[in-house]
Order: sequence, then C-alpha cells, then structure tokens
Amino acid sequence: MYMMNHHLKIRPRRLRHTPQLRRMVQETTLTPADFIYPMFIVHGESVRNPISSMPGIEQLSVDTAVDEAKKAFDLGIPAVLLFGIPAEKDPIGVENFADEGIVQQATRAIKAAIPELLVVTDVCLCEYTDHGHCGILNTGEHYPMLPEGYVLNDETLDILGQVSISHAKAGADIIAPSGMIDGMVSSIRSALDGEGFTHLPIMSYAVKYASGFYGPFRDAADGAPKFGDRKTHQMDPANSNEAIREAALDVAEGADFLMVKPALAYLDIIHRLKTTYPELPLAAYNVSGEYSMIKAASAKGWLDEKTVTLEKLTSIKRAGADVIISYHAVDVASWLNEK
Ligand code: PBG
Repeated sequence: MYMMNHHLKIRPRRLRHTPQLRRMVQETTLTPADFIYPMFIVHGESVRNPISSMPGIEQLSVDTAVDEAKKAFDLGIPAVLLFGIPAEKDPIGVENFADEGIVQQATRAIKAAIPELLVVTDVCLCEYTDHGHCGILNTGEHYPMLPEGYVLNDETLDILGQVSISHAKAGADIIAPSGMIDGMVSSIRSALDGEGFTHLPIMSYAVKYASGFYGPFRDAADGAPKFGDRKTHQMDPANSNEAIREAALDVAEGADFLMVKPALAYLDIIHRLKTTYPELPLAAYNVSGEYSMIKAASAKGWLDEKTVTLEKLTSIKRAGADVIISYHAVDVASWLNEK
C-alpha cells in the first residue's frame, strides 16, 4: 500500500535521475590537463623493461621515453616527471649532476622532440647512490656525535643544488626535490638563481611521508636503501600538524608548488594543505603502491580498474589537489578522451 509521506518533499535523488542531470551537477571533473606522468629512464637504446611490480609501466631508454612522452602529450597530458637510473652508482651519485647523466639526456631529447611538453625532474640522491639513501651519509669521521650512515643535511643540500642546475641547463621546466632534506627549497632556489634560472619553478615534495606504498617504485627506480629506512627525514604517517610546519617552511623558502605524497592514504592532509595554502598550486603524488594495488586486484577480477581508478583520482582532486602525479595518467587521459 502506498503511503503519502508529506515529510519527504526534499529528495536529493531527483538530481541523480538521469546521466544528463548527474553530469550537470557534478562538482569535480577530471581532465587530462590535471596530470603529470612519471617515467623511469635507463641507459641504452630501444629499451622497454617491464617493471613486474608495476604492470603497464616500463623502464625506458631515451628514445622510447620520447615515444611515450609524445603519446602522453597527444592525449593532452601537459607534463612528464623524470626519474633516472644511472649506469653506475657511488657514494655521492656523480651521474646525478653530470651533463651526460641519463635525466639530462632524456630532458634534452624530450624538449627537442616536444617543446611544449613540460619536463619536471625529480631531484634526489637515492637512485644514484650505491647505498640507496637520499643524501650524503655520515661516515663517523666528520660527525662522531651522529650515527654512522645518518643522512647528512647540509652536505646533501650542496649536491641537490648542483643536480638542479644541471637539470635546468638540460632544459627542465620544473625542478622537483623529493628528499625531505631541511632547507632544500631555499638552497635549490639560490643555486638556480645564481646561474640565471630565476624563472624556473620549484615543485617541492613538501609533505612526504615515510610510506610503505613506495615499495614498487624502489624496483622501478632501483632506489631501495641498502640498510635502514628513511624515517629520519621523511614524515611519520601519524602526523598532520607537522605537515603544516613542513609546508610553511617550503612556502617561506619560495616553493612554487606544494606536494603531498602519497595521495590516497593522505586525503585529509591534501585537504588541510589546500585549505591552509589556497594560493599555491597543490600537487598530489598517487604513488606506486597505490597504483599497483589496483592493478593487482583488477588482474584477479576483484575490482574494475577503470571505475576505481577514475574514482580514486576524482577523490584526490575533490580533496584539494590541483595537479595529480599518477602512473595511471596515460590510461585515464585515453579514457577521458573516449567520452
Ligand atoms: C625518491 C623518490 C621516491 C618516490 C619518489 N621519489 C622513493 C622514496 O622516497 O623512497 C616514490 C614514488 C612512488 O612510490 O611512486 N626520493
């Protein structure tokens, strides 16, 4: 029996009745222009090494990286983010700031082939050092009061400045330091300015957590620490107020973008940072583990990859991200172009 209910005059479902209505009232819309596509560059020619823990992502040589970058650009993706795997590793990572370093070569090749595609370069030491840490390590000789193997702060800053200048000379459009070394933004800023690169923006990995979600990346970039962890410089996942302190420092040091990393497990941090610093573009890094867990579950038929991928990325944007770094960028851009 149908009962007239006079209290139910307000019905949110009315706006969900048809796809056209739903589209009209949709608050958050993804576009290919929201994305940065990360790429892993290795030495060699015609290389496409699949990364087993990241299905769909490959290590690329400079030539195949140019092909992938063209594909991303043609889909409307405005930027790629380059990570380099050097030919040889050593305690300070000399290839990181070499003219013929792998990121420098890839940057020049991509900018020559696709001048309008933005090249963002990751600036850190861990892929280049033989110990896999993000900085110069204390040997005990200079700082007996610090533990052996401790990531030294200011010694590392000098290298980060040199790497940034070298990337800038190769043609990078944005410098993205990811090591969570105190003072990295101001020292990179003065290094760049000193060489005339006053116009180059810095996208600071301002709020980067010591996360287990970086696991697959460490296969992709061969950057796992050979001992210990990164907890003395990356943030504790339990902390939120501290994210404001980290961001405040980077803003004061002149960062042009802020970043939260990882993204999916840190939506509250994205929202809080965007609310606190609405004036700066905010990037969110949807990291390797967040990519691979969707790949793994959808390979088993437990999730629908397209549905959950669009949902997670919409959620990251809804939380407050202006730019999303994602291994799903090319897939998403082609799905969005289908519509
Ligand atoms: C290097 C760096 C890492 C990531 C980006 N830059 C690894 C780390 O900090 O251990 C992780 C990205 C990902 O998991 O997708 N400092």
